[in-house]
Amino acid sequence: MSKIDVVADGAIIAAHWREENHIPPPSRFVGQAYLTDAAVFERFAEENFPECFREYADLLDWKQYWHTTLDSSRPPFFKWFVGGKLNACQNCVDRHLGRHRNKTAFYFVPEQEGEPIVALTYQQLYRRVNEVAAMLRDFCGLKRGDRITLHLPMTLELPITMLACARLGVIHSQVFSGFSASACAHRIVDSASRVLITMDAYHRGGKLIDHGKKAAPTVAEAAKEGVEVEKVLFWRRYPGQCRSEAPILKQRDFFVDEVLAEYRGKEVKPEIMDANDTLFLMYTSGTTGKPKAAQHSTGGYLAYVAGTSKYIEDIHPQDVYWCMADVGWITGHSYIVYGPLALAATSVIYEGVPTFPDAGRLWRIAEELGVNIFHTSPTAIRALRRAGPDTPAKYNHRFKHMTTVGEPIEPEAWRWYWEMVGKREAVIVDTWWQTETGGHLCATVPGIHPMKPGSAGPGVPGIYPVIFDENGSQIPRGSPVAGNICIRNPWPGRMLTIWGDDARFVRTYYSRYCKPDSTDWRDWPYFAGDGALQASDGYIRILGRIDDVINVAGHRLGTKELEAACLTVPEVAEAAVVAVPDEIKGAMPDVYVSLQPGVSADDGVSRNIAAAIIDQIGPIARPRFIWLVPDLPKTRSGKIMRRVLTAISTGRDPGDVTTLANPEVVEELRALVAEKVTGVG
Ligand code: WTA
Repeated sequence: MSKIDVVADGAIIAAHWREENHIPPPSRFVGQAYLTDAAVFERFAEENFPECFREYADLLDWKQYWHTTLDSSRPPFFKWFVGGKLNACQNCVDRHLGRHRNKTAFYFVPEQEGEPIVALTYQQLYRRVNEVAAMLRDFCGLKRGDRITLHLPMTLELPITMLACARLGVIHSQVFSGFSASACAHRIVDSASRVLITMDAYHRGGKLIDHGKKAAPTVAEAAKEGVEVEKVLFWRRYPGQCRSEAPILKQRDFFVDEVLAEYRGKEVKPEIMDANDTLFLMYTSGTTGKPKAAQHSTGGYLAYVAGTSKYIEDIHPQDVYWCMADVGWITGHSYIVYGPLALAATSVIYEGVPTFPDAGRLWRIAEELGVNIFHTSPTAIRALRRAGPDTPAKYNHRFKHMTTVGEPIEPEAWRWYWEMVGKREAVIVDTWWQTETGGHLCATVPGIHPMKPGSAGPGVPGIYPVIFDENGSQIPRGSPVAGNICIRNPWPGRMLTIWGDDARFVRTYYSRYCKPDSTDWRDWPYFAGDGALQASDGYIRILGRIDDVINVAGHRLGTKELEAACLTVPEVAEAAVVAVPDEIKGAMPDVYVSLQPGVSADDGVSRNIAAAIIDQIGPIARPRFIWLVPDLPKTRSGKIMRRVLTAISTGRDPGDVTTLANPEVVEELRALVAEKVTGVG
C-alpha cells in the first residue's frame, strides 16, 4: 500500500494496485494515427505556451480571428482566443455541408432491437437544428445569453436541441435524464431558466420509462423556489403519440412535433458569439451541499474538445465512433456532441443499457455499424465482464481504439478490455479529466506512448500536471507518496467560472495553492480535488476524490446532497454518508442515520430514507446500506467523524478513537455492520 498521507478516505480505491508494465500500442493503430511523432510535446512545451494552442483553435472556423491567445491578466479568470468570434453550431454542422453533406453524423440505436437504427446525415442534422432553433427563438422567445434547461434522454433530440441553442447563443443546461424532478428543479432555479425541454418517454432496461411525468413536479418545485417556468416542451419518443401519463397544461405544455409544424424548412442564421461567451452550463457535485454549474466557453472549449477528439480519440472522418456515455454528462457534451461533430465524425447514440437484452448487445451494434472507436467507463466494463466474460469473442467487431473515463480502472478489468473486447488490436486510452476541465487532462497519446494498465498517462499536449503535498511542495516523480494533483497552467477547455459564484470558483479550484496577489498564471495552479501518484515514467495514477464527493459508476455525488435528502425524512435527526468500494460501480454510498428521540428504528423509516434519496437525487444515488444507529461518532466539538464511519463500512481499523466525544459508539456500530455485511457478529 502506498503511503497516502494527504489524501482523505475517499481516495482509497486504487491505492493498493501495484505498478504495471508498459504495453506498446498495436502497430495496426499506430500505422494510421494522427499523432505518432513525439515532437508534438516540443510544440506544446512550456516555452511555446500559450501560443501552442493556436493549433487547436485552427481546427475551427472563426468569423473573426482572435488577436490574443491568452489573456491572463486577472487570474484565475483566464480568457482564451480573445477577440475571436464564432458560432459552435456553425462549426459542428454548417461548415461540413460542403464536403460531408451526405455523411452520417449520428446513428441512433433504439434500445428495442426490433426498432430500426436511424442514420442522420449532416444535411438532415442541419435541417432539424434550424427548425428547432426557429422554434426556440420565435415560439419561446429565447435569445442569446438566456438559459434553458433540458431534461432529455439519449435520443437524437438531445444533441439537436443543444445545437439549436448553440446556434442562437442560448446557454443550455442539460440535466441527466436519470435525475429526479427535484434535482432538475434546483438546476432550473440556479440557472433561472424560463423554458424546460423534456421528453414523454424512453426505453431503458426493457421498460418504457414515463419521463414526462417528472415535468409537472419539476415546474412546481422551481416555482416554490421562486423561478416560474413559462413553457415546457415535450419531445415525443414516437411523434404523434404520447407515451406519458403526465397531464398536459394548456398555455404551458406543448408537444414539440406539433409546434415544429410551423417551422418546417425555416433557417436561422447562427448568432456570432465571442470566444468567451458561455456555450453551456453543466452541473456537478462539490464539497458543499448544492451542485454548482461549470460555465463553459464557446471558443476555448470548442477548440479544446476538437483538438483532443483529434489527437487523443484519434477520430478520422472515415471512422465510426461510439462514445457510450450519456450526453447528460460532460463526457457526452465533449466527446459525443461538440468534439466529434467539430471534426465531422460519424457517431453512435445508443438509447439503452449496455447489457440489454443480453451481454452481446453492444458487440452486435458495433459489428452492424462497423464501429472502430469505442469509448466507455470502467463501471460499464466491469458490468459487461460480469454479464458475459467470453461474449465479445463471439462477435466480429474490430476496434482500433478504446477509451476509458470516469474512474480509476483496475488492472484486471483493463486486461479484460484489452484482450477480450479489443482483441489485443485496439489501443486503450485511460483519460482523466473532469466536468470543470472541459476535456482530457492526463492520458497517453495513443500513437506515441505505451499503455500502462491502471494509470492514466502523463499530461496531454499543453497540460502540465504537478502533484503537491500539504504544504505546496512538489512531490517528485517516482515517489510512493500520494498528493493533490494540480495543473500548473491554464488551458482553453477549462470552465470560465462557476455560474453565479466567482468566489466559490476561486475558493474551490485555486485558493489552496495560489499566490493571491500574483498576476502571473504560474502562481495559479488548478486544484483538481483528486489524490494521485506519479510514477517515474511520468504516468499519473489517480486514486480518487479527496473531498466529500462519491464517484458512483463514474458519476459524482456529493455526500452533503445525500445527507440533506435524508434529513427531509421527519424521523431523521442526523445523517452521515460515506463511500464504500463496490465491485461494479467503483463506489456506493453507505448512509448512517440517527433518529429523533422516541422514534423506533423500523423498516418503514429506512424505506422512506431510500425513497427520499431517489426522489431528490435519482436512482443512481441509491445507498448500499442504510444504518439506523443510536448515535454517530463525533469529535468533542460535535463534528461527525466520517473517517471512522468509512473504516467501519469497509471493515478497516478506525484507528485512534479515544479523542471522540462518544468513543463507545464505534464498537457498537462495528458490531452492527459486521453482522450484516459478513453475517457474523
Ligand atoms: C474521476 C468525468 C481515474 C476523478 C470526465 C475526477 C477518474 C472525477 C478518471 C471527475 C480516470 C475521471 N481515472 N479517475 N480516467 N476520469 N475520474 O466531473 O475523481 O463526472 O475528479 O468528469 O472522476 O468526474 P466528472
